[in-house]
Amino acid sequence: MINGKKILFSGMQATGSLTLGNYLGALKNWVALSDEYDCFYSVVDMHSITIRQDPSILRKRARKLLSTYIAAGIDPAKSCIYYQSHVSAHAEMMWILSCFTYIGELNRMTQFKDKSEKHANNINAGLFTYPILMAADILLYQADVVPVGVDQIQHLEITRNIAERFNNLYGDVFTIPEAYVGKIGAKIMSLQDPLKKMSKSDENPNGSIYLMDNVDTVIKKCKRAITDSKGMILYLDEQPGVKNLIDIYCSCTGKQPCETVKEFEGKGYKVLKEAVGEEVNSILQPLQRRVAEIEKDTVYLNSIIKNNSEKAEYFANQTLRKIQKKVGFPERLR
Ligand code: TYM
Repeated sequence: MINGKKILFSGMQATGSLTLGNYLGALKNWVALSDEYDCFYSVVDMHSITIRQDPSILRKRARKLLSTYIAAGIDPAKSCIYYQSHVSAHAEMMWILSCFTYIGELNRMTQFKDKSEKHANNINAGLFTYPILMAADILLYQADVVPVGVDQIQHLEITRNIAERFNNLYGDVFTIPEAYVGKIGAKIMSLQDPLKKMSKSDENPNGSIYLMDNVDTVIKKCKRAITDSKGMILYLDEQPGVKNLIDIYCSCTGKQPCETVKEFEGKGYKVLKEAVGEEVNSILQPLQRRVAEIEKDTVYLNSIIKNNSEKAEYFANQTLRKIQKKVGFPERLR
């Protein structure tokens, strides 16, 4: 608890361009929850280097991501928005937690398996221990809640297991975090393969809508979205392409799938696709304008980066010192 409020932590990687999945599955919920909780939103650049990055591009993307958090509606005067690499406690905590994590647990992580297949020539140790860094992120801030998309649930589970194991040995030091997953939009699928999640790293750019896509590109991508030959707009698992379009539509408009099915009753897929494109654009256009404005204001952005990383560091160090003491590291003498 900080000032009587529960604590929220979440993060996003500055790898590739953000997709509509990142927005609807995570960022949108971050904004909705930001008044209720005391929030820490990190640009998790340390996670990004598990895959080879061009240093100057990573730096630019990290700054754009920070601007996107603000543009989406997170108020940096209330919520702590910061770069993970500016708070060294993340790496220190990760080392300690590594000693409380089993190889067998890490072996079960599906994202590690997926990523090692995709990057077969660079299966580095960081890719394997990635969930421990994520656990360190969350546990450092004693987070009560972690809003994420469905693909991160397994990482939340391992975080809880590590925290419980530690608490069993040393007393109740860590808050056990809960995942917060939105009812709609928690797993936005690829427009080209609705059985696969929409992803920043998809080789086919038509599968993903990027937050910085222009109006025409969004419309084109929605028009080309893979559906089926049934010709009925229903919200069914057997129609994953149509279901995904309904999910996107509902997530953008706040409507329910059953209302949407009624709204489009008797209409063709073309009408649905056009409506989805329009709704997406009505979110992306103002977002893009705000990102551009914020990015231009270097002084403002730099002050946020500096002040918030100090705030994050203060909280993170409090937990780190407590944990260092618990495991038996000698006290610091002043
Ligand atoms: P990342 O950067 O891949 O994704 C950021 C957030 O977006 C969600 N997301 C989606 N939601 C719905 N549909 C999709 N297609 C979709 N694609 C992505 C993700 O679930 C995530 O919430 N390991 C994390 C970053 C991280 C983190 C943390 C998150 C590092 N430390 C601590 C929470 C707490 C990741 O790579 O997310």
